[in-house]
Amino acid sequence: MNFQLTEEQIAVREAAREFARTELLPGVIDRDSEAKFPAEQVKKMGELGFMGMMVDPKYNGGGMDTVSYTLAMEEISKVDASASVCMSVNNSLVCWGLEQFGNEEQKEKYLKKLATGEKIGAFCLSEPEAGSDATSQRTTAEDKGHYYLLNGTKNWITNGNSAGVYIVIAQTDPIKKHKGINALIVEKGMDGFVVGKKEDKMGIRGSDTHSLMFSDVKIPKANRIGEEGFGFTFAMTTLNGGRIGIASQALGIASGAYELALKYSKERKAFNKLLSEHQAIQFKLADMATKIDAARLLIWQAASLKDKKQNFVKAAAMAKLFASQIAQEVTTEAVQIHGGYGYVKEFHVERLMRDAKITQIYEGTSEIQRMVISRELLR
Ligand code: CAA
Repeated sequence: MNFQLTEEQIAVREAAREFARTELLPGVIDRDSEAKFPAEQVKKMGELGFMGMMVDPKYNGGGMDTVSYTLAMEEISKVDASASVCMSVNNSLVCWGLEQFGNEEQKEKYLKKLATGEKIGAFCLSEPEAGSDATSQRTTAEDKGHYYLLNGTKNWITNGNSAGVYIVIAQTDPIKKHKGINALIVEKGMDGFVVGKKEDKMGIRGSDTHSLMFSDVKIPKANRIGEEGFGFTFAMTTLNGGRIGIASQALGIASGAYELALKYSKERKAFNKLLSEHQAIQFKLADMATKIDAARLLIWQAASLKDKKQNFVKAAAMAKLFASQIAQEVTTEAVQIHGGYGYVKEFHVERLMRDAKITQIYEGTSEIQRMVISRELLR
């Protein structure tokens, strides 16, 4: 196995690191406190090609591989996990899903704008009573001939207000259960589509998470992705790839906290020596670095399997399960190493600790990852 990154991949990582340092770091504490969406920063991310990294250049994308995407996600997540979840949903769930399964007309009309960040995308699967249990969709898309009549409520939608294009999963034929579900492209501003309340969250507070309400929204048949009844497979397949993005986000949160703790340990003295000279701190740093490296290897494995067009379902779920777990552990230790300073906003690690938790919840909880992994093992 080759662990050597290419020159292009290293350049992508450097560009993302520089962008995070110069554009995301200033203001990240205020955006977190005020729960303010990083609109200007996301616009720049689009201009720099971070919003459609893996999309074919003929649809305005960067034409990069998944490994490059994980590197950029890690760097951006080290500093601002609210910006990175917007990036991850747009790249992995919306752009990738549309490029793989959309038709030419949909790619021309929607993908080209999503890949540049001119429009932001949202992926709408979760409902008040269907989060993990995704087959239990209550949102309906009634077949009316030339169009579907969309009714229902979606919950916890990332980019809920900032998006212009929404991929909505809805039930058309309940008798067919998950084989009667469709994925529909919905545009902001369509009659009957209302963006609901914004969630006041523990972490990733800068990302705009909203509920969405659909009341007799007419969706043209041309906006259905794939064949009739393909919607659930679309959602599951797209989420498999999305898990690599969220695993990279968790890794970035962990490595961002680790880097801050390492730096702090070399500056702060206690009992007449630097923290880094105490074995108790050295052992913590050793454990944190080991966990981070292990998570990164799982992520690169999943990404390279995807790039080689091999089955990456288990690898992606393992990467997300492990990276989100170590993000909890590493950020908690980073706060501990900082002592009282770790508990206040100025030192960033308390935010990273709060941000880490969501990576064990969205795009499938840790329990869902274990279901996916064991299904693959027992297949
Ligand atoms: N990849 C591809 N297909 C899959 C799949 C996977 N990982 N998991 C299930 N499927 C397919 C099955 O093969 C089956 O298809 P067939 O009948 O054609 O064979 C179909 O889906 C139904 O499978 P099951 O009967 O096993 O379904 P289930 O009800 O037992 O649940 C599940 C399967 C894995 C638990 C699934 O419901 C799931 O993944 N739930 C989690 C959903 C999720 O991740 N939600 C997050 C919301 S999105 C989000 O968070 C984005 C954001 O804002 C950041």
